[in-house]
Amino acid sequence: MRAALAGASRPLGLVPTMGALHAGHLALIHRARSESATVAVSVFVNPLQFGPNEDFERYPRAFDDDVEQLRAAGVDLVYAPDVTTMYPAGFTTAVDPGPVGEGYEGALRPGHFRGVATVCTKLFATVAPDRAYFGAKDAQQVAVLRQVVGDLDLGIELIVLPTVREADGLALSSRNAYLDPEQRAAAPALHRALDAIVAVVRNGERNAQRAVERGRAELQTPLREAYLDVVDPRTFVAEPEIRTPALAIGSAWLGTTRLIDNEPIETSS
Ligand code: PAJ
Repeated sequence: MRAALAGASRPLGLVPTMGALHAGHLALIHRARSESATVAVSVFVNPLQFGPNEDFERYPRAFDDDVEQLRAAGVDLVYAPDVTTMYPAGFTTAVDPGPVGEGYEGALRPGHFRGVATVCTKLFATVAPDRAYFGAKDAQQVAVLRQVVGDLDLGIELIVLPTVREADGLALSSRNAYLDPEQRAAAPALHRALDAIVAVVRNGERNAQRAVERGRAELQTPLREAYLDVVDPRTFVAEPEIRTPALAIGSAWLGTTRLIDNEPIETSS
């Protein structure tokens, strides 16, 4: 990859992905294409960010189709290392982002953000992009990577784009493929819960617990709440008294699939 990128025109934009590309990924790629001389996309299902009982083995893989979409989108280079290239025998170093990665997703997926931070640091080191593109859908991932890029002086600009959704509000995700028709029909309630929180805050509520309770009313069977909260988007610490900038975050189970989503909160005062 280094050799392929030697002398590449700048600015160089990198879009890290785990493949099984959908319109959410493509929005990042189109934006990167619009403002970069060279666009690189990585496709790597990173075992380090999956727990032992998670879906690493069955995570959707569609490499040939992905490459076709990337070619059509005008991407210059695709970096798709295999696992032993990324993590050869004897690999032991890890990037631990600290408290920002400990709550919420970090609590439900121990080691997840260590895996994300480690692989992104390696991708940044290999590609040396000027900018890297991420989706707001994975808001805690963005907070973790801002921490890492700042702490380690990586000098890469992170560009964060809004969540791409289905018409009924469900955030696009490769994991939506796991939902059966009944679960798929119930899934938009997670986004409705977040919208309900945003709406009560817009109407003047500043107490996070009361706002979250209003959102919780939208999460009904078959959805089972994993968490619903209002946090500071930079630190992912809960905000008892809501002040801008704040982020409503939520996660819910549908069978064995867990969905995540978030909505930014704007306060008028
Ligand atoms: P992956 O889930 O493939 O997502 C790649 C990028 O697409 C992430 O930045 C994610 O936030 C963004 N994305 C996913 N769904 C989106 C949607 N509905 N709207 C907008 N953007 C969306 O996130 C990862 O891979 C990995 O953790 C990775 C960063 C590649 C490290 O392994």
